[in-house]
Amino acid sequence: MAYDVQTNSLAEFWIPFTDNRGFKQDPRLIVKASGNYLTDHHGGTVIDGSSGLFCSPAGHSHPKIIEAVHRAMQDFTYVAPFGSGHPLSFALAERVARLLPENFNHVFFVNSGSEAIDTALKMVMAYHSALGNDRTRFVSRERAYHGVNMGGVSLSGMVNNRKTFPSVMPNVVMMRHTWSEDELFVRGQQQSGAELANDLQRMVDTYGGQTIAACFVEPVAGSTGILTPPKGYLERLRQICDENGILLVFDEVITGFGRLGNKFATDVFGVTPDIMTMAKALTNGSIPMGAVATSDKVHDAIMNQAAPGAIEFFHGYTYSGHPAACAAGLATMEIFEEDDLFGRAAEMSDYFLDAVFSLKDHPMVRDIRGIGMIAGVDLHSSEKPGARGGQAQKDLFWNGMHVKFTGDTGIIAPMFIAEKTHIDEMMEKFRKTLDGLA
Ligand SMILES: Cc1ncc(COP(=O)(O)O)c(C=O)c1O
Repeated sequence: MAYDVQTNSLAEFWIPFTDNRGFKQDPRLIVKASGNYLTDHHGGTVIDGSSGLFCSPAGHSHPKIIEAVHRAMQDFTYVAPFGSGHPLSFALAERVARLLPENFNHVFFVNSGSEAIDTALKMVMAYHSALGNDRTRFVSRERAYHGVNMGGVSLSGMVNNRKTFPSVMPNVVMMRHTWSEDELFVRGQQQSGAELANDLQRMVDTYGGQTIAACFVEPVAGSTGILTPPKGYLERLRQICDENGILLVFDEVITGFGRLGNKFATDVFGVTPDIMTMAKALTNGSIPMGAVATSDKVHDAIMNQAAPGAIEFFHGYTYSGHPAACAAGLATMEIFEEDDLFGRAAEMSDYFLDAVFSLKDHPMVRDIRGIGMIAGVDLHSSEKPGARGGQAQKDLFWNGMHVKFTGDTGIIAPMFIAEKTHIDEMMEKFRKTLDGLA
């Protein structure tokens, strides 16, 4: 891709979630991406240590996805999704449903993880409305990330994502997060902390279970730095929800489609929610798309309350189930299956986690947590929290590795197509960069 930072202006584009002024002084542009690698605008090679933003496990610019989208675009570049449709959206919903728990047979398409969360919130409301329930309270968790739309901000447990946006949904209460100084360097699930799920019971005892509509959790809290659920924690949440008619929503935007070494977190932890949100790897990151899947119980309640001929759920987006996204999603599902990429993720996990946890003794490293093919590496903060992480991210890039940082935490998530040599290369570059920071 031809791009010349000397002649092309960087001024106009307002970059998301980025130090715009710093970035424009020291731009880091990608002009090509293929497989595990990116090419920067100076021609340098950068290994992708976070699968983009955890969304491209099958590798960048996969030819089957390019071909499928190209083919679909020759048939139609757009089809109105309200009151008409095209076969690709039905085919993709059927294909995704095959991967879901048995009682999940319905999939609603959106364009991002944030839209999936807003849609899930509205499905919860529609479900309780259908049952005649008066439940208006939502439960979320400290350190949660559920995207950036107003629903997601309302559920957010990350202070920088909400402190400048005070006008959020009312009636959201927070459980405590599950990270503890007492159990550092956790590989897989934490041993202790299941009792933190009793925070939900305390909400029930304080507000009345019949006032609580749903409890939203990321089964593994992702963007905050990979906080795995303590053993027994998700089971206890499920139990409290069941006892009180509360819907349990798993935000699987990061954990879905093999990231933890199985199809979804629900398969890894053996706990089934009532609603699941997903996005990212649904199209291998190639075309924006998210989805919400519901159990038959939730779906049927919403369908059955509407009079015959009436619209059952007053919600949808102009680009819900866009043909390009559906074609990309179908090709992605085929690649996952044909190349057994979830199996590959499971197989590579031990090698990957061994490699990441070998950083344990580095003086810059405060804590590491990992599961499947994702790990969070906390660096010791300098005087200004986040500054060291920001510096590490830049240095890593110029040392030839892309890693997503949140504050002082780097989140490493290789592609499922990565070979051991790719993981070795990542760890060599990561260690070298930490050495440079020390
Ligand atoms: C758990 C979770 N939910 C929701 C989102 C929001 O997704 P998007 O950025 O596609 O809106 C993210 C993004 O990282 C996420 O990790």
